[in-house]
Amino acid sequence: MKTILITGGAGFIGSHVVRRFVNKYADYKIVNLDVLTYAGNLENLRDIDTKPNYEFVKGDINDSAFINELFEKYQFDGVLHLAAESHVDRSIADPMAFIMTNIVGTVNLLNGARRIWKSGNEGHRFYHISTDEVYGTLGETGLFLETTSYDPHSPYSASKASSDHLVRAYHDTYKLPIVITNCSNNYGPNQFPEKLIPLAIHNISQNKPIPIYGKGENIRDWLYVEDHAAAIDLVFHEGKDGETYNIGGHNEWTNIALIRQLCKTMDKKLGREPGTNEKLITYVKDRAGHDLRYAIDSSKIQRELGWAPSLQFEEGIEKTVDWYLANSEWLENVASGAYEKYYEKQYVTR
Ligand code: NAD
Ligand code: TYD
Repeated sequence: MKTILITGGAGFIGSHVVRRFVNKYADYKIVNLDVLTYAGNLENLRDIDTKPNYEFVKGDINDSAFINELFEKYQFDGVLHLAAESHVDRSIADPMAFIMTNIVGTVNLLNGARRIWKSGNEGHRFYHISTDEVYGTLGETGLFLETTSYDPHSPYSASKASSDHLVRAYHDTYKLPIVITNCSNNYGPNQFPEKLIPLAIHNISQNKPIPIYGKGENIRDWLYVEDHAAAIDLVFHEGKDGETYNIGGHNEWTNIALIRQLCKTMDKKLGREPGTNEKLITYVKDRAGHDLRYAIDSSKIQRELGWAPSLQFEEGIEKTVDWYLANSEWLENVASGAYEKYYEKQYVTR
């Protein structure tokens, strides 16, 4: 039986990865380490949390003594590292939490792995899950390749870029067995409503304005979260040591076109007159340092590991809207209290 550490498993992507691994690999013991920030929610894992091969540990990756003890205790065979501060707007308002968790926390985990794997790397793997935002911004053409130079612009992307460099440095310096993926924007069930798609779904369902930064012309490449989890599974098991793989949906949308599509889908789902939800679109002050366009060339993972996205965007958006409408209690729970204060502060310029 292998013991696998998944960090950030109570968050959006992490919960889909934990569920996939717990259900698929009965011979793995999955330890989910999460400190449960505002973005972490154990409700995301209710369906699997009594399975015998699953264990939750509440703890902070920023606490090096705790991390060292955890690695000594469990003698992990592998690590999938997803814990992070993940929202660009929060990183602009308060960068330090990003520096701590995304950089220092990652190094604490690298050190923990290095301590217990010093006798040999056979069968071990430290998998760092990262973002395409490390590459900076594209103009109207071109795609991010694994060889594209790093050029991050927000405190979030700069902290993720730093952690990517440190993971590679541990490979090159200490021969730690690592693999990294850089993925485009994810969407799907369980995403915290500070991010564009769940924020818009939440506001539409409450008949509240949908804030669009600038002119809504920024472009993102959207991937359904379960397709990302499938890629993570594949890379963890079959990726080559020391390699980086880009993951993306080949699915570029301007923010305004995406929100219009979502408004139409939700007019139908909510039984509203066509065009009703579009009236909620409200242009607000642009994000500082707002990257114009992200788009991934995922041909390496497609060619070498045989991964491909499985869902068309229209289908993925429908599934996502259906999930949020069926789980309005989940949404209202996470969108109350501290989130309301964040929202008031973030969108005060409207
Ligand atoms: P999320 O914000 O939904 O979840 C992050 C999780 O990490 C939460 O459960 C939180 O409680 C936990 N966490 C935060 N700080 C911690 C700490 N100090 N110790 C332990 N746990 C801590 O994030 P997400 O969107 O699921 O992203 C997961 C990972 O994937 C991140 O590393 C992110 O950079 C990367 N990523 C995200 C996207 C995206 O579109 N969301 C795209 C590409 C890559
Ligand atoms: P977001 O979901 O925060 O992801 P990221 O910044 O990591 O790409 O934002 C996606 C896009 O939507 C980005 O171009 C910023 C824009 N956006 C808005 O226009 N309004 C909003 O309220 C938010 C949160 C994002």
